[in-house]
Amino acid sequence: MLLITGGAGFIGGNFVHHWFERASSQGAVPEPIVVLDKLTYAGNPYTISEHLNTGRATLIQADIADRDAVRDVLTTHRPRAVIHFAAESHVDRSILGPGEFIHTNMVGTFSLLEEARTYWSELPEGEKAAFRFHHISTDEVFGSLEDSDPPFSETTPYAPNSPYSASKAGSDHLVRAYFHTYGLPVLTTNCSNNYGPYHFPEKLIPLMILNALEDKPLPVYGDGLNIRDWLYVRDHCEAICQVLEKGRLGETYNVGGINEIRNIDVVTTICRKLDTLRPRADGTPYESLITYVKDRPGHDRRYAIDPSKIQREIGWQPAESFESGIDKTVRWFLDNTAWIDTVRSGAYRDWLDQNYAERT
Ligand code: NAD
Ligand code: TYD
Repeated sequence: MLLITGGAGFIGGNFVHHWFERASSQGAVPEPIVVLDKLTYAGNPYTISEHLNTGRATLIQADIADRDAVRDVLTTHRPRAVIHFAAESHVDRSILGPGEFIHTNMVGTFSLLEEARTYWSELPEGEKAAFRFHHISTDEVFGSLEDSDPPFSETTPYAPNSPYSASKAGSDHLVRAYFHTYGLPVLTTNCSNNYGPYHFPEKLIPLMILNALEDKPLPVYGDGLNIRDWLYVRDHCEAICQVLEKGRLGETYNVGGINEIRNIDVVTTICRKLDTLRPRADGTPYESLITYVKDRPGHDRRYAIDPSKIQREIGWQPAESFESGIDKTVRWFLDNTAWIDTVRSGAYRDWLDQNYAERT
């Protein structure tokens, strides 16, 4: 079985769906999954309830920094691989409160690595050789690009600029050190911005969709010309499956879809899609809701991934273009109001008040 940390979050939850659908499309018996998740504001068991209900997936609520809990999960369930998604993941939250980011992304990853190392070192030889610790990371560890810079490659020096990206960079270095020092069989993937179903609506794309549907302002930070390299979440999940199967131990792989888009263009694309699929009652375009607001401190200008290594060595290619992926995403949010209701808790409302009150 696989141990998935953070499997009730956005990408981890999509990975759980992808894992079972992939097995079924290959006619294979699905390998079970155990999800270890603290269920922070970003963790939602409802995202994976269909698999929890069948018993193919099991959810254990625990903090990855809780060494006893992690040890207990490893020795009880004996995974052949750990796929480590659990993290504090939102840059704006890391600016307003970095402590949780150090706790989960650095101390938590350290605790997981330590327990994985002990567990792995005691496995019988065959299982030991097959074991994998796959660390999920981000392109944000490389810092910010100028317009004329080439995209990030695996050899781009680390230059994180936010408490989020610095804490992810720290976790990447720990993972690397456990390979070089202890021989722990690790793999690391650094992916660009994801979007798709089950995306928590504090991030740009789901926030814009849900605000538009509620006729609320669409808050674009700064001049709206920052660039992100967008990848449909299922393409990321498939990349992880393939690197898990074929990745070379100790290597890092950059994952991205060559979809560099300015924020303002992302927002207008969403607006036009909604104009077609769910026109406003008064017939005015959603773009009239766009509001430029105070910028994020230290806002990285541009991210872009060079995915040639994963394409060449692993043979991975994204299946979705931005046009097809954003169409699926907007339709998913229109069709899944029950899921949206589960994330619109008081805590989510408090965050909107805290993050946006001072920007307008
Ligand atoms: P998310 O915030 O949606 O989900 C994080 C999950 O981790 C939640 O279920 C949360 O409950 C859980 N979690 C948080 N702290 C925990 C702890 N201490 N112990 C156990 N569980 C804990 O994040 P996401 O967007 O799904 O990102 C998943 C991973 O992918 C992260 O490591 C992130 O850095 C990385 N990543 C994200 C993106 C992106 O665009 N979202 C891009 C590249 C890489
Ligand atoms: P986000 O989804 O937070 O991802 P990240 O900061 O990790 O790239 O933001 C994506 C881009 O959108 C980023 O340049 C910040 C911008 N943004 C806005 O303009 N308005 C918003 O309300 C949010 C949440 C983000």
